[in-house]
Amino acid sequence: MTVSQDGALRARKPEALTEEEAQQELAALAAEIAHHDALYHTQDAPEISDADYDALVRRNRAIEARFPELIRDDSPSRRVGAEAAEGFAKLRHGVPMLSLDNAFGDDDFRAFTASIRRFLRLGAEERLEFVGEPKIDGLSVNLTYEDGQFVRGATRGDGTTGEDITANLLTLKDLPKKLKGKAPARIEIRGEVFCEKADFLAFRASQVRAAEEREQRRARGEKVGPAITIPVNPRNFAAGSLRQLDPAITAQRPLKLFAYAMGEASEAVAETHADWLDRLRQWGFRVNPLSQLLADEDAAVAFQRRMTEQRAALSYDIDGVVYKLNRLDWQRRLGFVGRAPRWAIAWKFPAEQATTTLLDIEIQVGRTGALTPRAVMEPVGVGGVMVTHASLHNEDEIARKDVRIGDTVILQRAGDVIPQILGIVPEKRPADSEPFAFPQVCPACGSHAIRPEGEVVRRCTGGLTCPAQTVERLIHFTRRNAMDIEGLGVENIQKLFDEGLVKSPADIFRLHTRADVMRGWEGWGERKIANLLNAIEARRRVPLERFIFALGIRRIGESNAKLLARHYHSFAEWRAKMLAARIVGSEAREELGSIQGIGPAIATELAEFFAEPHNLEALDALAAEVSPEEVEIVAAEGNPFAGKTMVFTGTLEAMSRDEAEAQAERLGAKVTKSVSKKTDFVVVGADAGSKATKAAELGVKTLTEAEWREMAGLH
Ligand code: IVH
Repeated sequence: MTVSQDGALRARKPEALTEEEAQQELAALAAEIAHHDALYHTQDAPEISDADYDALVRRNRAIEARFPELIRDDSPSRRVGAEAAEGFAKLRHGVPMLSLDNAFGDDDFRAFTASIRRFLRLGAEERLEFVGEPKIDGLSVNLTYEDGQFVRGATRGDGTTGEDITANLLTLKDLPKKLKGKAPARIEIRGEVFCEKADFLAFRASQVRAAEEREQRRARGEKVGPAITIPVNPRNFAAGSLRQLDPAITAQRPLKLFAYAMGEASEAVAETHADWLDRLRQWGFRVNPLSQLLADEDAAVAFQRRMTEQRAALSYDIDGVVYKLNRLDWQRRLGFVGRAPRWAIAWKFPAEQATTTLLDIEIQVGRTGALTPRAVMEPVGVGGVMVTHASLHNEDEIARKDVRIGDTVILQRAGDVIPQILGIVPEKRPADSEPFAFPQVCPACGSHAIRPEGEVVRRCTGGLTCPAQTVERLIHFTRRNAMDIEGLGVENIQKLFDEGLVKSPADIFRLHTRADVMRGWEGWGERKIANLLNAIEARRRVPLERFIFALGIRRIGESNAKLLARHYHSFAEWRAKMLAARIVGSEAREELGSIQGIGPAIATELAEFFAEPHNLEALDALAAEVSPEEVEIVAAEGNPFAGKTMVFTGTLEAMSRDEAEAQAERLGAKVTKSVSKKTDFVVVGADAGSKATKAAELGVKTLTEAEWREMAGLH
C-alpha cells in the first residue's frame, strides 16, 4: 500500500478538518484511489485488500459529505461510472457494424443470389460478380482515419457503440498509423484482428506451464500471484489481448490484422469491392491474399470447394468464406435487413463432429416458461473448443432420436453455433438404459408444465410465481443488447433475487435505496456496489427500442422492437396504442398488425402481453423509473416522406417492391401493408387491386411510381 504523506490526517474525523486540510486530503485520496483502480483493472495483483480500498472510498465520501463545495472534478465518487468500471471509454461507430447471415451449403448460397436478383430485378443474363474472402474468426475492429492519420479504433461492441481500444491497436504492426498516398478527410476502415494457430498454441503452452508452476507453489504453501487464464481458442485469445487495459501487454501478444470493409467515408473511394481492397493495399493494410474476385455464382461455388480443401493447411483458423457482391452501387441499393446486409453472406464450412458420453439431461426453464432439455456430457473437443453441454431442443427431439442417459452421442459444432447432438451410437448403448421421461411439472416451481395441442414446447404455468421465469426475465432485461446494465450478470441477479431485493425490473432501479443491505454480503464491497449503482443510474434513459426489447415479450426480438419504436416514436404513444390494441378488430390492432414486419400473429402476442394486469403493473412501475427516449426521425432536407406512413401496392417498374419499401424506410417513412385513414401516401404500381380502391375511398393521397421516384429523389 502506498503510504501517503498526510497519513496523520486520516485518523481525524472529517468534522475536525479545516477546509484547507480537507482539500489536501481529497486531492491525495483522488490520486491514491485512481492508482489502485488502475492496478485493479489491469488485473495485476492489487496492492491493497478490498476492505482497505473500501475504507479509502468511505473516507473520501465522508469528507465530501462534510465539504460538498470541495468535491473535485476527478473525484473518485464521480469517476466510478460505467466508464471507469469497464476500463474503456465508449466510441460510437459512424456507421453501425453489422453481422452476416450464414449459408451452409450450395442451396443456401443459390437462395442468397436469387434473392439479390429478385430485389434488384436482374435477369438471368446479368452476371453477379462476388469477392470471396476467407472468414477468420477473430475480433472485428473499426479504425478511424482523419486526413490519412489513424486517430482512433474501437471494438464492434453492440454494433452501434464499441470500446475505445486505440492505445492497444497502436501496438499492432499491421496497422498503418498513416495511410500511404492520397486519403479522404475521414474514413472508417473495418478489419479482423486475429492470432495465428502456431502463435496461439505457443502462448497457450506457456500459460499452461505457468499455471502448473503456480499450482505447485501454492501446494507448497508459497505466495502466488493472480490466477493464470488459459485461452481456449485463438479468437478468445485475440479478444482478451485486445481488451487489456495496459497496452504494454497487448504489445507482447502476436496479433495480426486483415482489413476488409468500409464504414463511414467522407467521399467515395471505390466503385467495386475489389477496387476497395486494392485501395486498402495501397494505403498499407494487409488484405487477405486469398481474397479473390469471382466472375459469377459458379465461380463462387468453385471457390468454396477450393477453400474447404485448403482450410487445414492455412496458418490461421477460418470457419467459412464471406461473399460480397462486387458492385458497390448494388450494395447500396440492397441495403440491410435487421442486422445483416442483403449483399453479403458467410458461407460456413461443414461442422466438425465428435462422440462422447451423455451424462445427464437437465431441464432449463426459460423466461417465457419453456422447458428446454440440455445435454450434459463428458467434456470433448470439437471444432477447437471443449464442449460439455448441448441443446436437445424439446421433448419430441429426445424421443425421435431416442437419446438416453448413458448413451454415446455424436456431437456437431458449426462455428460459434451451440453444439448439436446429431444422434447416438446404438452399439454402445448400456444394457440397462431407459427412455428419458420428460417432466410434467416445472423443475423450478412445481407448477404443471403443459403442452398445448400442436405445439412442440412444454411450458410452466407458474407465470410470475415461477422463480426460474422471473430470473430469466431479469437476465434478459439487463443483457447487453437490452438495457445493458454492466455488472448485473447472471450470478448477481440470482443473488439479488434470492435475497429478495429484486423481483421485477423496476426493483433494479430502486436498488440505490438498499445499498446497506448489499454491503453486508460477502464479496460485495464498496467498489462493486458503487459500480453497479452507477451502471444502473446510467440506464435511466435508454432508446425506446432497447426498452421494448428488454421487456422480453414473446416474439419481440431486437428487430421487431425496433420496428415498434420507429412506428410509435414515444413510450406514451406505444403504451396507449398497445392498450387499445387488446381489442380484436380495433383500429389500433389493425394498425399494429399492418406494420411492415410485424403482422397479425405478433400483434396478438403483444395484445396478450398487455391484457395481463401483472405485466402492465410491472411495466408502469418500470416506466416510473426509466425514461425511454423518443425516436427522432431525421428528416433529410426536402424529403417529404420522413415520418409519413406509406403503402406500396401493385407491380413497380423500376425496382422491386422490397427495394422501394426499404428505400422509403431509409427516408424515415413507416411502411405498412394495409391502407387506413392514417396512411399518408399510397404508391400505386401496375395492376394494383383493392388497396388502390381503398385509398380512393378514404381520400388518401396516391402517387404513381414516377411521382414517388421524383419526390424521393431517385433517378
Ligand atoms: S464483412 C456488413 N468480411 O464475421 C459486413 N466480416 O459474421 C460485415 N469476419 O463481425 C462484416 N472475416 O468479425 C466481413 N472478410 C470478412 C470477414 C468478416 C471475418 C467476421 C467479422 C464480422 C463477422 C460477421
